[in-house]
Amino acid sequence: MARKIFIAGNWKMNTNFEEAIALSKDIVNTLGNTTDVDIAVCPPYTNLQAVSEIVKGSAIKLGAQDVHWEKSGAYTGKVSCDMLKSVGVQYVIIGHSEQRTYFGETDETVNKKVKAALASGLLPIICVGETLEERKSGKMDSVISRQVKGAFEGISSDDALKCTIAYEPVWAIGTGETATPQQANDAHKFIRSIVSQIFSEEVAQAVRIQYGGSMKPDNAKALLAQSDVDGGLIGGAALKASSFAGIVNPV
Ligand code: PGA
Repeated sequence: MARKIFIAGNWKMNTNFEEAIALSKDIVNTLGNTTDVDIAVCPPYTNLQAVSEIVKGSAIKLGAQDVHWEKSGAYTGKVSCDMLKSVGVQYVIIGHSEQRTYFGETDETVNKKVKAALASGLLPIICVGETLEERKSGKMDSVISRQVKGAFEGISSDDALKCTIAYEPVWAIGTGETATPQQANDAHKFIRSIVSQIFSEEVAQAVRIQYGGSMKPDNAKALLAQSDVDGGLIGGAALKASSFAGIVNPV
């Protein structure tokens, strides 16, 4: 089954209001008519509404970088699925390693967020990936397997098909060190085997798995050429329309 390439830009805690407007306009001008690749941008919360207006009517979809699982109430600092939907958000990144490392995200909170997102009609981008220490000590498979199983606990096959998985080796994020195409493809195949165990081979073959971690125009082509790499979750290189476009259309 052909899986359409999906490139998402994770702007992280970058761009003030004016910068987000300028960047999203540049991206719409450069990539707004793209049909052969799915594209999303994930600005900080404060810029979602403005970027939503700019990408409206173009091929660029809007994503958020996190969400809280509760519907509303006394959760200072948190944002709900319905709040995101009300400003035109379609995708939400869940379980990014920075959330796991700095803000106490666990497999359980990832699972709660995935369930809440799916229940409200948002499409999760679920991040998994090992640290360098875990890779070196041979724990990579068990860590990734635990993260994938944790994220999908209690999720139906139909809902799993609405999710994208992002394989982001922690040692490659923002470091300039990229997984080799072979390392990425091996990890993606392994993730697909876990998805097959949880659901079915059919779901495993249909679910899209993005690679993330220092993906740039000059390494995107080789990564995206791999059989099991179905796109990218892009941090640093998503902050300029030209480099983001260079990943969507690598030469
Ligand atoms: P990077 O970030 O492209 O800057 O390595 C990727 C990510 O963390 O999603």
